[in-house]
Amino acid sequence: MSFLSIFRKSNSVSVIQLNGVISPNMGRRKGLNLQELEKSIEQAFTGSNIKAVALQINSPGGSPVQSEMIALRIRELSEKKNIPVLAFVEDVAASGGYWLACAADEIFASKASIIGSIGVVSSGFGFNKAIEKLGIDRRLYTSGDNKAILDPFLPENKDDIKRLKNIQKELHLQFIGFVKSRRGDKIKDENKEVFTGAFWSGESGIELGLIDAFGEMKKVLKTRFITMSKITEKFEDYFAKKMGSKYAVMTNSGSSANLLALSCLTHPFNKEKLSSKDEVIIPAICWSTSLWPIIQNNLKPVFVDVELETFNIDIKSIEKKITKKTKAIMLVHVLGTSANMTKLLKIAKKYKLDLIEDTCESLGAKYNNKKLGTIGRFGTYSFYYSHQITSGEGGMIAVSYTHLTLPTTPYV
Ligand SMILES: Cc1ncc(COP(=O)(O)O)c(C=O)c1O
Repeated sequence: MSFLSIFRKSNSVSVIQLNGVISPNMGRRKGLNLQELEKSIEQAFTGSNIKAVALQINSPGGSPVQSEMIALRIRELSEKKNIPVLAFVEDVAASGGYWLACAADEIFASKASIIGSIGVVSSGFGFNKAIEKLGIDRRLYTSGDNKAILDPFLPENKDDIKRLKNIQKELHLQFIGFVKSRRGDKIKDENKEVFTGAFWSGESGIELGLIDAFGEMKKVLKTRFITMSKITEKFEDYFAKKMGSKYAVMTNSGSSANLLALSCLTHPFNKEKLSSKDEVIIPAICWSTSLWPIIQNNLKPVFVDVELETFNIDIKSIEKKITKKTKAIMLVHVLGTSANMTKLLKIAKKYKLDLIEDTCESLGAKYNNKKLGTIGRFGTYSFYYSHQITSGEGGMIAVSYTHLTLPTTPYV
């Protein structure tokens, strides 16, 4: 188990599948509705390491009421638990399907997905002429003048149509309101078409701001949420064993590893923490980010010249630069070489100086059979692509002995 495993529990992303026509349950026929989804929505937001909830959507729409209820439930939990929601549209998120997608903070789709259809539709047939031809009488008795509006067996009635259109308008405005509240300025509707009920491919949908990006669920989630996963811990353990250090903690770069090392020296949990303006010795030939972490931590860099043969710190010149305020040496092992570490350690011991080894250019190099980076308190490494091994960007800090009293709760 790695040094930081207490801080790093593996991340999870829950997936809610929203497939099919959105409708209430009709007898034994189950639709896509809140009653069916309630449990899985609840579960998706439950757990301490849920980093996001993904909606996998394949729906041509259906009931506006169910669309609204599902979307609102997702929003409620997302906001309550502060968990972001990402929607992944597969074949189609149209009409109510797009309503569901808007419950997400970001919408991904394929270029060929069908998106949009922000409108309301009601359709049916009129059978009045057919039953007339067949000699059938329609016998309808109601109490209440409007009880049987839109009867398919009676001729169309203007007032009925007006009433239906008004209801459709209200639903349409509710739909538009939700889309606008979720997508805001992202919607680019120069031709005033987005809210006409038209639908588009993912490719046009991105231009109109109906979706945010193209992307397939697994791929997007892996790139977003894979960092600091089990594989990183495995690498840290392997690295520490291989180098012979007590722990190893991966960082996003060698520069960050240097910053982390210096920040540990000034950290409040460090009983012997360095104070502002304490001095840190550093060779005159170094990397900008060997130097800057000293300044960033409010410490004072003191330069010592280098040996011309190896460009490593000139041991003979170190003691001349030591004062009462000198507390550490930030060594830089140049291009696979090092200074005389036996002599250097003697000086560090004599003056009680902490030793950090910037080993970003020298992974795997040894001094007297000990790997560089494991001689001092911290060794830092870079996995930038031009170095001995690479993870594209990346770095590592190897810890040979720790001086931090770790808190019981994570502290960042
Ligand atoms: C000595 C030294 N320290 C630190 C770094 C910074 O490493 P990174 O590029 O991973 O931030 C480099 C990079 O080449 C380096 O040579």
